[in-house]
Amino acid sequence: MIIAIDGPAAAGKGTLARQIADHFKLNYLDTGSLYRGVGLNVLKNGGDPANEDDALKAAKALKHDDLTDCNLRTAEAGQLASVVAQIPAVRAEILEFQRRFANKPPGAVLDGRDIGTVVCPDADVKIFVTASDEERARRRHAELIARKEPCDYEMVLEDLRNRDRRDTERVIAPLIPATDAHLLDTSKLDIEAAFQAAIDIINGS
Ligand code: DC
Repeated sequence: MIIAIDGPAAAGKGTLARQIADHFKLNYLDTGSLYRGVGLNVLKNGGDPANEDDALKAAKALKHDDLTDCNLRTAEAGQLASVVAQIPAVRAEILEFQRRFANKPPGAVLDGRDIGTVVCPDADVKIFVTASDEERARRRHAELIARKEPCDYEMVLEDLRNRDRRDTERVIAPLIPATDAHLLDTSKLDIEAAFQAAIDIINGS
């Protein structure tokens, strides 16, 4: 079984996808971490994240250890990820890894932006998770504060909107619900209620 969870930044995809994977005993892949790892690698190499050669070199060199970098979840890594993710050669480099992961038994839950549209168009269930901009910013702000990253709410909101714009407007694999995706708005749902709504969608599919 393959379950695709897509949606904009901080909509709650990661928490939800991890819980669904645990529940159905499936593998789990946070595909955003791959782009974040590439973005951080470009920075470590002193390269330019918008430069195709620099970004592709970093994508080819991506290692498992890069995905446990303590800076992976920072706002800066998110922005860098969104920039390298616009480069078709970087996406192509990462695509096969994601597909192999998804097809390994017993199956997987993948979360990202293009799982239902590009990476796993034949996924058994596709869920597009959304929440209002303000609610997503509130959650991300709380997450950054908990990690002791200095930030202010307005800046977090602006950062999310910039990233969403870049992810939605890019030419390749933009952030868009697959035509057969179930929409799940978590604005007014806590983690438990969002999980239950997702389970209902999956069991009803
Ligand atoms: O899910 P996240 O916030 O960790 O993702 C970071 C960035 O990576 C996101 O702004 C766009 C990019 N990304 C992507 O283009 N495609 C994916 N499947 C996952 C993430």
